[in-house]
Amino acid sequence: MSDAASSAPLTIAIPKGRLQEETGKFLKTAGINLKFTERKLTAADPEGRFRAFLVKNEDLPTYVHHNIAGLGICGEDVMYESGYQFFTLLELPFGKTSMCLSGYASAGYPGDGHGEKKSLTLATKFTRFARDYYHTRGTSVSIIRLKGSVELAPVLGLAPYIVDLVETGSTLKAHNLEVLEKLKEIRVFMIANPAYYKIYYKRINELVSLLGRGGNP
Ligand code: PRP
Repeated sequence: MSDAASSAPLTIAIPKGRLQEETGKFLKTAGINLKFTERKLTAADPEGRFRAFLVKNEDLPTYVHHNIAGLGICGEDVMYESGYQFFTLLELPFGKTSMCLSGYASAGYPGDGHGEKKSLTLATKFTRFARDYYHTRGTSVSIIRLKGSVELAPVLGLAPYIVDLVETGSTLKAHNLEVLEKLKEIRVFMIANPAYYKIYYKRINELVSLLGRGGNP
């Protein structure tokens, strides 16, 4: 192992938002304490084994792809939208959600036995996923790109359908919307830049196996 591979801190991107707290707790199970103080977006563990960067969820693949962070914690939704390829090292025991087609029940379920709809208008943050999903099924889609609060689209009449993540279902329920079709389960992974992994694989493998055992030696 080169000097750098044995002593340089491993770099890891942590997503801001709903996965942040769970990620912190999860890393702690392996004795990794990364505390982002005040408004600071970088942190290091006291032992100097890790350097962490707190990045916006959607930007995380960019940092790992460009090898700024060698490792990252990332949902399959964000990974897919980025179009980049990563090594997926470990599925994490939190953050599971579903990518769903939703709308008012009265909009009709596109595959309800009356024949698949041949065209759909939908609003989504996940334009790549939605396009690929429906194109492989031979359904033409007109996609309206939104950055958030996607549930508003059917409520305000922007589009009859949305493709979005559903976790508890409470945002849909609050707007009288329903899941019309579950399209894909979305999991969260620890990912690595493939070139970075080749250099640091020994330490990364040790880390992954420790995390996989819940921190137990
Ligand atoms: C996500 C998702 C849904 C909501 C689903 O949005 O896009 O809107 O959470 O969660 P639920 O099923 O538990 O209600 P997020 O909170 O990330 O905010 P956004 O609207 O800005 O995308």
